[in-house]
Amino acid sequence: MMSKGNYYVTTPIYYTNAKLHIGHTYTTVAADALARFKRFTGYDVKFLTGTDEHGQKIQEAAEKLGRTPQEHVDEMVKSITALWKTMDISHDVFIRTTDEKHKKGVQGIFQQLYDQGDIYKDFYEGYYCKPCESFWTQSQLEEDHGCPECGRTTEMAKEEAYFFKLSKYGDRLKKHFKEHPEICYPEARRKEMINNFLEPGLEDLCVSRTSFDWGIPVPFDKKHVIYVWFDAVCNYITALGYGEDQDKDFKKFWPANVHIVGKEIVRFHTIIWPAMLMALDLPLPEKVYGHGWILFAADKMSKSKGNVVYPEVLIERYGLDALKYFLLREFVFGQDGNYTNQTFITRLNADLSNDLGNLLSRTVAMVEKYNGGFIPQVGAMEEVDEELQQVLTSAASKVEEHMEDLQYHDALEEIWTVIGRTNKYIDETTPWVLAKDEKKKSRLDTVLRNLSESLRITAILLKPFMESTSKKIWKQLGLTEEMHWEDAKYFGKISGLIKVEKGDALFPRLDVKKEVELLEAENKKVAAAQQAAKDKEASMALGKEEQKAKGKSAEKATDKAPEESTMATIEDFAKLEFKTAKIIEAKAHPNADKLLVLQLQVGEETRQVVSGIAKDYKAEDLVGKDVILVANLKPVKLRGEISQGMILAASNEDKLVLGTLDGEIPSGTEVS
Ligand code: MSP
Repeated sequence: MMSKGNYYVTTPIYYTNAKLHIGHTYTTVAADALARFKRFTGYDVKFLTGTDEHGQKIQEAAEKLGRTPQEHVDEMVKSITALWKTMDISHDVFIRTTDEKHKKGVQGIFQQLYDQGDIYKDFYEGYYCKPCESFWTQSQLEEDHGCPECGRTTEMAKEEAYFFKLSKYGDRLKKHFKEHPEICYPEARRKEMINNFLEPGLEDLCVSRTSFDWGIPVPFDKKHVIYVWFDAVCNYITALGYGEDQDKDFKKFWPANVHIVGKEIVRFHTIIWPAMLMALDLPLPEKVYGHGWILFAADKMSKSKGNVVYPEVLIERYGLDALKYFLLREFVFGQDGNYTNQTFITRLNADLSNDLGNLLSRTVAMVEKYNGGFIPQVGAMEEVDEELQQVLTSAASKVEEHMEDLQYHDALEEIWTVIGRTNKYIDETTPWVLAKDEKKKSRLDTVLRNLSESLRITAILLKPFMESTSKKIWKQLGLTEEMHWEDAKYFGKISGLIKVEKGDALFPRLDVKKEVELLEAENKKVAAAQQAAKDKEASMALGKEEQKAKGKSAEKATDKAPEESTMATIEDFAKLEFKTAKIIEAKAHPNADKLLVLQLQVGEETRQVVSGIAKDYKAEDLVGKDVILVANLKPVKLRGEISQGMILAASNEDKLVLGTLDGEIPSGTEVS
């Protein structure tokens, strides 16, 4: 297919000072769905994400943990890339602001702006808190000129710094906002930028710091590091090779079609970044979209407030597509929305399990029961069929329109209109009644055929949003050809003899009360773990201070012996029963891609164990392996399958390896 053109979409680059929660994943899931949608509809896409690794906060976080900043960011980046892998994020480029090419690019930009007079040296004046090494403005101070961070008295001070002539670009920016309102979406954010910043007039921006050194040095004055936001926004062009090799990606993809960002960082992306681009004489991004926040109990989800929900928990239990669907469908892009476990589970049941899941299982079951599993040929179309056809074939263009405006919830609602109309069609045509009358076979065939067509179209429409669900529907329909977006606009594309392939329920129905209780318990655990981590950080910081006092190196602080409280006594150990076991059967878990369902021979007994090893082991390679089983764990159900114990494995972020036995010994033998 001929490319419809180039498309460049970006997420903000994430700070590497804390684990990402579902609020962060929201930005990335949205950008990912857009990138997938554009690729699927024929564009040559570049999708960029990455990490923002400099600045005082990161330096402090590293110091608290007794690490160098570089060690700290390297660790944090591993967990971020692992999360994007778990979430099947389809970025083409991952930029780190500690990448050499980025650092060079930023220094080049800083130098150019300095040489042309857009950056100049002056003094930063403000109220300075010595212990905190921070400047504050008068309005930020507490009583008696107290520092808002530590409360101690601040003093008026002056520090040498570099400034960017932001004020010079105010008028051009105002004009640009008027002529290209797309520079800031949604409209409410645009008005805020105009009224709060552009109308009152812009002040020059301080773009260097001397109070810490974890940053990109100013190329011609090494005691200054470049302000972290100046450094960060440049990622959108350094990732394309700006300043290095501009003839390839930069030429092809700049200006960006859209920067997707959260609402609190819209000013950096619609005022500061565009002014920098104007100074560099580069075109501005076409669109910047500031989405709302996911709130938790009406408060912004944030680690410092201890009210965070992490994506891993939800993905593990309900599947990746369930989380992606919920994020994009529940919240209106551009507005804040509340997350509650109740709304999450209720939506999963209503939309995914009932509406979509049942439509597929009913259709496939009826094709099997009434036509030997083959999708029948279509007969004469009646009015109700034509009405269905009309809804189905018009959906794709409506989804295209909504995606142009980044209205994900509307796009998904449109797809659910198709699903809803089809479910209604089953009630209207009552295939089970038709099946009782031989003379109505041709009518029954038409109905079954139309239902299959509807699911074919649904699978195509869902692909950019829920890839694995879309594939499962395709497979159950017995379709094998490649999916094409344009095929969603036509009715009657199923051709030849197609045999459906009944599979597992797409989304098993959940017990709302039970799941909410479980998730609530999980939230409590997370909050407790966060508190423990904070305590640990504090004690490590203390440890570091003590070590410093003793003249030892700060790094040694991490070599402490485990805390007494985390050591197991011999009695604790004796509570657990370990046994050898042989894997006699292994198969994929019907409702979770990451899990395998294993049958183990443990002496005379056979046990079923569900294990999260599907990423590292193929089911067929496991049969015959001898493993070690924790045999007296309380049985639990994992996504609908009972698990009677756990097998031991070693794992890190990249890989998992099963603990096996060094020699022959009968299964069921005790391990101690
Ligand atoms: N490093 C800067 C961005 C620099 S871009 C040149 C930054 N990083 S961040 O990690 O704090 O945030 C990244 C994104 O996550 C932002 O778009 C932010 O709005 C989003 N979210 C963080 N918490 C959020 C919610 N609770 N809800 C929705 N999105 C939120 O800012």
